[in-house]
Amino acid sequence: MTDSIIQIQTCGGRACKANGVAGIFELFAKELGADMEKGGISADGKFELIRGFACQGKCGVGPIVTAFKNGEKYVFSRVDAQKVKKILEALR
Ligand code: FES
Repeated sequence: MTDSIIQIQTCGGRACKANGVAGIFELFAKELGADMEKGGISADGKFELIRGFACQGKCGVGPIVTAFKNGEKYVFSRVDAQKVKKILEALR
């Protein structure tokens, strides 16, 4: 049995944009080796990176990143460069 792909989605709402979510997205893409021209799939094929467009309702603690792994949803708040690496370690 193969594990399902792990999805990582950055919030696309206005407050998270103001809090630098675009830079966080780029850090995830770099860490994962994700090719956005090819659907955001990571170099190892384990992750799919998605640029979200909707507010996740947690604007006060953004930037918000949401992950889906094996049917579970995980929400990460105040994501910065250090947290990007920790999130990926936790999800692997
Ligand atoms: S804008 Fe990101 S949670 Fe609202």
